[in-house]
Parts: sequence; C-alpha cells; structure tokens
Amino acid sequence: MKNHQLKLLSGFLLLLGIHGNLFAQYEAKIDSLLRIMTLEEKVGQMNQYNGFWEATGTSPSSGDAKVKYEHLKKGRVGAMLNVRGAENVRALQEFVVKESRLGIPLIFGLDVIHGHKTLAPIPLAEAASWDLKAIEQSARMSAIESSAVGINWTFAPMVDITRDARWGRVMEGAGEDTYLGAKIGVARVRGFQGEDLSAPNTIAATAKHFAGYGFAEAGRDYNTVDIGTSTLYNIILPPFKAAVENNVRTVMNSFNVINGIPSTANAFLQRDILKGEWGFDGFVVSDWGSGAEMIDHGFARDTVDVAVLAANAGSDMDMESYAYVRHLKRMVEEGKVDIAYVDDAVRRILRVKYELGLMDDPYRYCDPEREKELLYHPDHMATVLDVAKKSIVLLKNEKGFLPLEKHQKKIAVIGPLAADKTSPLGNWRIGSDDGTAVSVLEGLSKYTENYTYSKGPDFVVGPIEFALEAKINETDTTGFAEAIRVAGASEVVIMVLGEHGIQSGEGRSRARLDLPGLQQELLEAVYAVNPNIVLVLMNGRPLAITWADEHLPAIVEAWHLGSQSGNAIAAVLFGDYNPSGKLPMTFPRSVGQVPIYYNPYNTGRPGPKDEVFWSHYTDESNKPLYPFGYGLSYTHFEYSGIHVDASNPKAVKVQVTVKNTGKVAGEEVAQLYIRDRVASVVRPVKELKGFEKFALAPGESKTVEFVLTDAELGFYDNSGKFVVEPGEFDVMVGGSSEGGLVGKFELQ
Ligand code: NOJ
Repeated sequence: MKNHQLKLLSGFLLLLGIHGNLFAQYEAKIDSLLRIMTLEEKVGQMNQYNGFWEATGTSPSSGDAKVKYEHLKKGRVGAMLNVRGAENVRALQEFVVKESRLGIPLIFGLDVIHGHKTLAPIPLAEAASWDLKAIEQSARMSAIESSAVGINWTFAPMVDITRDARWGRVMEGAGEDTYLGAKIGVARVRGFQGEDLSAPNTIAATAKHFAGYGFAEAGRDYNTVDIGTSTLYNIILPPFKAAVENNVRTVMNSFNVINGIPSTANAFLQRDILKGEWGFDGFVVSDWGSGAEMIDHGFARDTVDVAVLAANAGSDMDMESYAYVRHLKRMVEEGKVDIAYVDDAVRRILRVKYELGLMDDPYRYCDPEREKELLYHPDHMATVLDVAKKSIVLLKNEKGFLPLEKHQKKIAVIGPLAADKTSPLGNWRIGSDDGTAVSVLEGLSKYTENYTYSKGPDFVVGPIEFALEAKINETDTTGFAEAIRVAGASEVVIMVLGEHGIQSGEGRSRARLDLPGLQQELLEAVYAVNPNIVLVLMNGRPLAITWADEHLPAIVEAWHLGSQSGNAIAAVLFGDYNPSGKLPMTFPRSVGQVPIYYNPYNTGRPGPKDEVFWSHYTDESNKPLYPFGYGLSYTHFEYSGIHVDASNPKAVKVQVTVKNTGKVAGEEVAQLYIRDRVASVVRPVKELKGFEKFALAPGESKTVEFVLTDAELGFYDNSGKFVVEPGEFDVMVGGSSEGGLVGKFELQ
C-alpha cells in the first residue's frame, strides 16, 4: 500500500465512524496496518540505518550502500540517521514511499544536541543558567532549525547524571544532580516537541542513555558501570521518568552493562520499569551498534543472538547493528522471539510516525523555502545570545576586579582560544559550519579598541577533526616571549584558556583535569610579569584550576557557548550583563578527588576523630574547589529569616528573604536542600529539592517560598518502591550547595 493508499485507508476508517481522540484513531489505523504487513516489513520498521547519499541517485553497485538501498526499496528500513537537507530528505523519503510495497515513510533522526546551524551553549553550560525557560527556548530554536532541514527526531536530551568530570560526555548533560537534571530534561523535551508534535517545526525527542551511562568507571567512556540499587533508583532513573511523564516520544538505551547485563538486552530496565511501571508508549532505539557490541561484552554469541536478546528485552529499533534486519524474521519463525513483541515494537514506531504527521504527509519537514529562511535566523541568534550570557559562571572576583571599565586602558588578550571561531561551538555540531562563532576578540572589539592580542604558543598541532584525536602542543614554546612582553606592557590581562571544542564529548575522556598542553606554564609565566589577570575558561567539563584560584583575582567560566560566544563573554567582562550562572557540577581541587559531588552519604567516619582514621586524603582536602550550585555576581545577595511551617506534612512550607545588598541589579538562584536525618536507606548529606531564579534591583528584597511535598521528601527503597518516612529533616537555603540558612522540621 502506497502513501496515497494509506490515506485512503485512513479516510475509510474515519468513514466507518472511528472517532474519538487522535490516539484512538492512530491505534485503529495501526491495527489495520499491522494486519496487512508481512513479518519482513514489520521487522523493517525496527531497523535504522545511517545515511548514505547514493540512495537518492543511481542504485549503488556494491557494499553497504547496495544492501541499504535494496532494503529501503523493500520497506525493510523504518528510520534513517544523519541524512539532512530538505531536498536530500525529500528524495530519500520519496524513494521509500514510492518504491516500497506499503510506502510507510521513514523517520529522520539526527543528533541535534544544542542547535543545528545556530548553536546554543553546550548542554552542560546551559544547565549552569538554571533558567528553565531559556533552556526550553533554546531547544525550541534547535527544533525549528533542524526540522527545516528535514529532521523530525533528535537524539536529545541526554539526561544521564554524572559525577565524573573525566568523562567527556559531561558536556552533553545537565551535570551531577538528579533534581536539576530532571527539570532541565523536561524543559528540553518540551522545547523540542512543543505543544503539537505534528507541527512542521517540532521534532520527537529522545531521553538517553537508558541507563547508567554517566557512571562509566573512572570516567572512561563506554566503560563498565557498577552501581548500587539505591543509586539506580534515586540518582539515575528519575530524570528518565520525568521525561516519560512529559511524553518524551523515544528513549535510547546505552552502551554499558548494569549488573552484568548490557542495557540493550536489559528487560528489567526496558520492559519492567520503562514500559511496565512507567507506561512509556513511545519506542526504544538502541544506541549506535549497541546491539552488536553485546558480542564484545561477552553477552551474545553472534548477531543472531543479539536479535533475540535485544528484541525480547524491549529494544524496539536497532540502530546500525544489522541484527534485526538480518535475523529477527527467522527468530520469530523459529519461536525464539514472540511475534507479540515485534507487533508491539512496530506499533510504537508507527505511533510516533502518526504523531509526527508523517503518515499524512511524508514531506512535511522538507520545505526548501523554510530551510533557506530559518537557518542562522536572527531570532535564533538572539535566543542563543540570551542563554549564553545566562550560562556564564563567575568563579572568582577579588575586590571587584570585574567588570572592566569600558574605556580601560591597555588590555592584553592572550591565548589561541581568544581568536578561535570554531572551538566555542563545542562538540556535537554536526550541522553547523566551522568558523561561525563570534570569537572573544570580536566580542571585545565592540567594547574597546584598546587591546593587544598575543596568541602565545599554539594550542593544537594540526587540524581539529571530529573523527580524530587532535594533537595538543606540549613542547613548542614559540610565542611565549611575545605573550610575556605584551602582558608586561598592559594594565589588565585577559587570558582565554581551556579546552578546544572537541576535547570533550563522546570518546573524549581525560585522565587529567588540568589546563592541557602548555597553558598552565604560559599562565604562570604571564602572571610573573603581570598578576592582574582575568582567566576566561573555555571548556566542556569541570577543570582542576586550583593554582589559578589561589593566584588570580578573577576567573570566568565561559564553557563552549556556541555561535554568540564572544558577545556573551564580552558583555560579562564589561558589565553589560551581570553574571548569574551557578555550577551544575562540582569543580575538584585535583583529579584524585573525582568522583566528587555535593550529595554523598556521610560515611561512618565523616570528621576527624583523630588524625588518621577518618574518611579523608592525606595529601588533599576533601573540599571541592568550587561546589555545585556556586557562582558569584557583581552584586551581593543576603539571605535572612528562614521560616519553616510543617503543620501540613503534605506541603511543608519554607520561606526565606533574599536582598540585593549591592549597587547593581542582578539575578540570583535561591536553592533549597534537605537532609533526611535517619532513614531505612541512608540518605545523602544534602539533596537539592527546589530552586528559583529571580532578578532584584539594588536594595530590593524578595520572600521566596518553597513547598515540599511527598515527591521531594520521599525516596526509593531498594526494591524500587517510593517511600516517605516520618522523622527529622534539616533544610538549607542559600545561593550555593554550601553554606546557607538552616532550618529543621519533623515529619509526623
Ligand atoms: C552514539 C551516541 O552514544 C549517541 O548518543 C548518539 O545519539 C548516537 N551515537 C547517534 O549518533
């Protein structure tokens, strides 16, 4: 049945009087389709291939492309990834709709992680804004641009919680906290999916990677995950659950094992929890080749085994393992996989296709006019500039060193990253164009012409390419002397140091968390001639910059901020924007402290009982360099008058007053943490359970009220049951996870 036949069928069904909500309509249509699909066509829907261009031209004569071409023609492919461009997508869609027997349209997926052409800050940076509206708006912008190039499905948001800055993919998530991570995940899902998934400018989102991928041992990507039940239920799963409750349409499983079972074949996660307990009615896609990787894990013998294990465990779509397309039909025929599992998977996939509007109009997302109009649209630039400014975190500012005066004399700007127009775009920028970010130098030029730039030594030797490990310059000190001379002749030095754009991201784990290459040496050499340094950090993960913190007057965390990077940084340096970001991840003092996070358990030996036998390091403090939730402003906020009212145990009210006691307007993020003193499962020393971001004029104050319900006061026990236990709680409210006002209450 071709697409027009599908239309006829749906018209017919409507004529028969099948009314009700859209869901019921879709289900009836899916029932009819399932009845006429062959087993091979059903399995085809469960197969996803990576893009190749020949499909739209003459038929390829050999290799993978030939196989894919034939499969597309026969309706043995349900989705593609990495095919983009309104014309390209249309051509491939047309091929499948016209050539295959039933003409069921493909879904087109892409990693639209923080924008398509116009790039927002990397997700970790955006998380530092704690501004859910700005984050949702940024995802909206990503959906608008990517849908204009034919995409209708993004593999985002990554909602993996992670506590290990060595793991390169920390850049792609919302950091270390479950509560904040869940809120941000939901904001992103809403931004991508909008109110109406069938609108041509909304796309299906993916909560990934289900589950535990952020807990790769020693921060080494793809490594084993070995976590306890309490961590799984209380730390890892809640952001996924929140995404499901907010109708995320797909979930991607992960490369790792949990309790020795790879996620792709994990029936406990996918069938029992996700589809069972949570009632998820979208579909699960495997990660790239994660099915076939079960052979390397030592879990599957071959791809036949992979097909059986993954399908039985509830992995609905196979991304690039070729396991389903090759073996699943036979495995069903031999009784190794129940046909009901296949029907269920196909139903889920077709459901999303209906919801996206693809079954009505397969070319809905393929309008070249929209493509021309929307890419790099000025509105999108405004959106990403707004969130970029909000993402910057002021880490240190001694004696009001910042902001700089607009007509400041003699500024030296040092470091290759200051002129870099690509690194600020960060990792995951498949659709964007290199060299399109506003550099720090370009941003600064809008405020002053009074600066001298000296690149210093090269940072990277040779090109920086996605598929290659870039070589960092460790030896060539050319440029040192000039940088030192320029710094010595200036009043203020802006040093832009950190990581290049793809030094974080997938496969980019680091064993060290210092400034890579010669940067620390350069920093110290410049400091020796001029200590008036503002360090602007450009990076995709927390770094251990302990020396800088001990010596420099000002440090600005600017992450990889996307297309408008330099404009946002300059606005903060010159005080046009008062920084309001707060760290979504703890910064360690040294790499040996990692994993370090704000909400550990207390241990049985938390404090010094004597010199030796307590939980500590002999050569480093237990304290982080900068804690979770920390970030300064050009003004000061004073917290006072904590008031706790626990008379209604279902709605415990906590109030504080926050006053802007400084001279300039600013935004603050008031954060509420609780500690459940004694419980049947040990609870963390503190847990974020509320936050609010607001602006205050100088002298202005505001009473902030938080309401704690069962959802905030309970936790999952080790059988996965959510329990709320009576007893004493501490409550802490402040502008960071450390310090703050303390109150108490008892839950009866
Ligand atoms: C592998 C990554 O883990 C996943 O996040 C991504 O979506 C897929 N590749 C597709 O590119």
